Parts: sequence; structure tokens; C-alpha cells
Amino acid sequence: MLQQLFTPLRIGPVQLPNRIVSTAHQTTLVQDHLPTADFLAYHEARARGGVGLIVLEATAVHPSGLLTPHTLAGYSDEIVAGLGRVAARVQPHGTRLFVQLFHGGREQIASAPRPPALAPSPVPTLRFHTEPRALEGHEIRSLVQGYARAAANAAAAGLDGVEISAAHNYLPAQFFTPELNRRADEWGEPTRFLLAVVAAVREAAPALALGIRLSGDSEAAREAAPTLVRQVDYLSLALGESSTYVGSTGIVPPPPVPENAIATVTGPFRGPWPLIAASRVVDPVEAERLLEEGRCDAVGMTRALITDPELPRKAREGRLEDLLRCIGCNACIAHYHAGTPIACTQNPRTGRERMLPAPEKARERRRVVVVGAGPAGLAAAAEASAAGHRVHLLEREDRIGGQLARAGAAPMHAEVARTLARNYERLLVLGEVEVSTGAEADAAAVLALEPDAVVLAIGARPYVPDLDLAGVEAVQAWEILAGHGSRGRNVVVADWGGDAAGLASADLLNAAGNVVTLAVGSAALGEGLHQYQRNLYAQRLYRAGVRIEHHAELVGADAGSVLVRNVFAPDVETALEADLLVLALGRVPERGLVEELASGSDVALFEAGDCLSPRSAEEAVLEGTLAARRAGQATDVRSPSG
Ligand SMILES: Cc1cc2nc3c(=O)[nH]c(=O)nc-3n(C[C@H](O)[C@H](O)[C@H](O)COP(=O)(O)O)c2cc1C
Ligand code: SF4
Repeated sequence: MLQQLFTPLRIGPVQLPNRIVSTAHQTTLVQDHLPTADFLAYHEARARGGVGLIVLEATAVHPSGLLTPHTLAGYSDEIVAGLGRVAARVQPHGTRLFVQLFHGGREQIASAPRPPALAPSPVPTLRFHTEPRALEGHEIRSLVQGYARAAANAAAAGLDGVEISAAHNYLPAQFFTPELNRRADEWGEPTRFLLAVVAAVREAAPALALGIRLSGDSEAAREAAPTLVRQVDYLSLALGESSTYVGSTGIVPPPPVPENAIATVTGPFRGPWPLIAASRVVDPVEAERLLEEGRCDAVGMTRALITDPELPRKAREGRLEDLLRCIGCNACIAHYHAGTPIACTQNPRTGRERMLPAPEKARERRRVVVVGAGPAGLAAAAEASAAGHRVHLLEREDRIGGQLARAGAAPMHAEVARTLARNYERLLVLGEVEVSTGAEADAAAVLALEPDAVVLAIGARPYVPDLDLAGVEAVQAWEILAGHGSRGRNVVVADWGGDAAGLASADLLNAAGNVVTLAVGSAALGEGLHQYQRNLYAQRLYRAGVRIEHHAELVGADAGSVLVRNVFAPDVETALEADLLVLALGRVPERGLVEELASGSDVALFEAGDCLSPRSAEEAVLEGTLAARRAGQATDVRSPSG
């Protein structure tokens, strides 16, 4: 089983021990444009887990190409020692190490002060609102030398290869994309820049493997590929492009983009050269199938490895049910966009490899009761049981997953909910956690279990506004997600924009045959979601014909209509026809049991997740994990905590 995945692969001068690849991804574990100790620990964890190849993140070849303050400076003298330290931690595990050579051209994610944006031609770009200047001939030659210098530095650091980023409409792709290259000089020839870069890199680092990354869904890349591949040792395929909202969603596609999304586009790029393909491959069995079908020669499983660095080892040992599977929530890339260190919703140790070691078996086995089986409670139960404690998990609903399970009723969240539940079901089994669903826990019920410590992860409930809504039937978005039916009605969804509940109910109600208006009370639709999910939601709702009223805050309801006011001009009010009003106006924490136990007992209490104040699943999992660690060490001294 998984024979192909664990067959070595030759890429130019380098042999990969297997065909699982961690493709380039920015970690924001970079300080002063050099790898930090956390960077080393992050990649070593993945190497120790058995990944065949790590391609280090987009690394600037020139000061004008520093994407963010946390971009590696591949052109600097200091990078040689920095990359050398990474190599010393990664290569001893048998993992091969490449680095991605990068210049974004007109794509600039950095906030002010931005360097001047440079591109083949002065074509403004929408997503980052950048207005570039056309590169002059001598600047182009200097950039080519930058690639060569960065490659020479990689070689001096002992790396095994370099990959030139020509995907996602970054600088090399801007040269070979006709609409973006309007030059009349010799650099107007589409592949000239990239061929010059490839030649310079080859000359500067002849012993290294050399590859190019392209976007498989780019027509321009398809046309350029035959000329380019003859000069390199491998091709790496990704999806998407940086300059548009929809295109950027493709770079790190979340569900419901189907699994193995890359598989459908590799055909035109196949040839005698090795092809690495990445995008939404999360399952080693599927990865093996892609290899068997000849779709690619190696499989990028980047987020799958961000979630579970041990994926290759578990797959090789046939422990597939033990995988912590990526749910595609994109919190990882959200951290990059926010300029904060990489993290993973499901694996609180990602990016914290040095700070948060794996649980050790406790010297003293305690009885830990966890109340609430949402992400915080599940993480607490998993962590405490992994440390050897006896754990009893109580959940009011008849299923685990909390708010994520509720959201799973909507197509956009179904996979996230399903996969998260599957991951934790396995962890609960492994930890021999006693799970009681349908169990309404009051203080007496909790104390009857004689706990040494209690973790309260009791979540949140919808906010009820103090407004006169007597004129229409008003229900909470959560009720729609729970199956509250409605057909053929005029529905207004009042959405504060901070979470997905309003979008999800608008989607469901529209599909059920209602005429839906989504009244969004924030500056942008889905403001609190990660931008790629927001983009997909906007696409989905516009296509479905949902009417979207922007900047509209709920103020009241009369018979047959809902009154909203403009958040920027509150004197501008609009009446929207409605016979059903759906409220998605945020959440408030559940506190009842916290107060009951704190005042009526001296049991050691720990709180985690939304009951502290509602936030995302990422905080819930982290806090659940930390609460369980403290609960495992609790003495009988009262230690409520946040
Ligand atoms: C946090 C993050 C940062 C990324 N940065 C880069 C990058 O520096 N260069 C690049 O070519 N792709 C980058 N990507 C895209 C990944 O290499 C990969 O193509 C994408 O995540 C899809 O593969 P997956 O579904 O296996 O995660 C990044 C992805 C993530 C999640
Ligand atoms: S944060 Fe979400 S998408 Fe990113 S690796 Fe973790 S589970 Fe996957």
C-alpha cells in the first residue's frame, strides 16, 4: 500500500527519499529577514516526520522583492549562515531541502512604507492596489543577477536545490503574461526574462537541482511551459494568482473547493521531467492515486503537513486513521496575511514547536471532567487524555463539534465540520475518553463525577439585540443552521459581518427557495472571515442571486418590513420587505456553569474558548490545550484561569 508515495524520486542531481513534498510557504518565523530558532524547529518537525522534500518559503532575490518585513533575504550575505542552520536541522533526517527564489513584481502585500513597485509594464493591480513602474533594462539585468546571487547563497549554505517562483502572477509570470508585459524592447518576448534567470541560476549554482513553479490554471503558463521545462530539472504546479480576489483564493483553496483540485490541470504540463503537484491534497491514499494515475511524480501536501508533521511516517506505517487531517480552514495563511507566526487551528504546536512540547505522561493520573465538546473542549479532552489522565467529556448536544458542527449544515462548512469531528473522534478513542453526549451538565452532575479538575468549554449563544422587532417573525441564524425551515418567503438576514452565521443562513435559505436579502452591517461582507473564504462566499451568494445590502445595520422591524440604517450615514434609513428576519449579530459567552461551580464548590476550574469570550476555533483549540495542561497539574487549590 502507498508503494509509489514511498518510492524515491530523482530530481536532477538529487534523490528524494519519497514523494511527499512540503511546498514553499511563508511561516512569518523570520526576523531581520533571517530564519529564527522557531523557523528551524518548525521545519525540523516536518523533516523528523519523514517528508521527502521541503521547499523553503518565497525568498527575496533583491531588496525590491521583499514581500513583507518577514521575508527571507536570499541575496544577503547573512542568509548563507541562516539557511545553513536550517539545512543542519533538516537534512540529517533524510529530507531534501530547496529554497524558493522570489520576486513579486507588482504584487506587494506589505503595508506602508512600501518600496516602489516594479513590473514589466505599468499596469495597476487590483487586490493590493499597487501601481507599478516599468523596470528599466539595467534593473532587469540587476534582478537576474539577484536570482543568481541568491542561488549561489543557497549552494553555499548546503541546500539541495532552488525553485524559481513563476507562479501566481509574480514577477516572472508578469513577463510571460501578455496583458502584463507590453514592452517593446527585448524583454517583451514572453519567456526571455525567465530563461535569463534560469541560465544565470544554473551558472551560479550548477550542482543544485533547479525547478520552476507555475500556476497550473494559467493559460500563459501553459503556453510558456514547453520552452521553460527543457532548461530545468523539475516543474512544480500550484493554482491561483495573486492579483485578483478570485484568483488569490486559488493559491490556498479552502473547501468546498474539492480535494485534489490540482489533479485536473496537470495534464498539459506532463512530460519526461518530474512534476510536483500541490493543492488540496490532504489524504495519502489520494496522493498515491494521483501518482498511480500519472497526474504527477510527487505530491505537495503543504497544509496537510502544517496540520500533521508526522503525516509521512504515519502513512508509511499504515496508521492512516491516526492522521490529524487538515480541515482547510486557512487560519495558517491568515497568519501570514496578518504578519503573525504561522499557526494551525487544529494543531496548537504548529509554529510553537519550541514552546509547546508534546504531552508527556503525567506522574499522577487525575480525573479531569471537560464540559462542552466544541473545539475547546475536544482539544482539552485530547490533551489531558494524551497525558494519561482519566477524562470524562460532557456534551449537551447529541454530537460533538459545537458551533463548527452546527455550521456544518451549510455547504461552505460541511467538510470542515466533518473532518474536525473525525479527527477528534479518533483522538478521543485513543485517549480512552469517556464521552457523554446529550448530557446537560449542571454543577451537581459535574461534581458527582468527583473530578480533580474541571475544564469548562461551554461556548457561547447568539446575541439578542435590544430592538423592537415585533413586526416580523425573527429567528436566530443558529436556528436556520439547526434546520428551521422556510420556503417561498421574503427573508432579510441581518448580518454584523463578524462571523459566517449570516452568510451560511443566507446561503441555506436561498437554496430552500426564499427571496433573500443579506443586510451586511460592516464595511465589507464577511469581514471577520479569512479573505479566501469571504471571496468564495461572495462568489457563491452573487451567483445564487442573493441581494446584498452593504453597510446596513438593523434598527427595527414593522409589519412586513425590516428597517436598516447606513453604518456610515446613520440618518440614511431603508425599509427592506421581509416576512422573516434572521439575526446574525454576534455571540455572547455562556457563563452559567462557570459561576455555579466557582461559587458552589472548591474544585479546580479552568476555562477555555468562547465561554471566555467568543472567538474562532483556533483560539478555542489553543486554550483548550493549555487549560488541559494546567488541569493535569492542578492541586486542590482553586485556580480559575484564562
Ligand atoms: C501559509 C502559506 C504560505 C504560502 N506561501 C507560499 C510561498 O511562499 N510560495 C508559494 O509558491 N506558495 C505559497 N503557498 C502556497 C503553497 O505552496 C501551496 O501551493 C498551497 O498551500 C496549496 O497546497 P496545499 O493544499 O497542499 O496546502 C503558501 C501557502 C500557505 C498555506
Ligand atoms: S490552519 Fe486549517 S487549513 Fe491551515 S493547516 Fe491547519 S487545519 Fe489546515
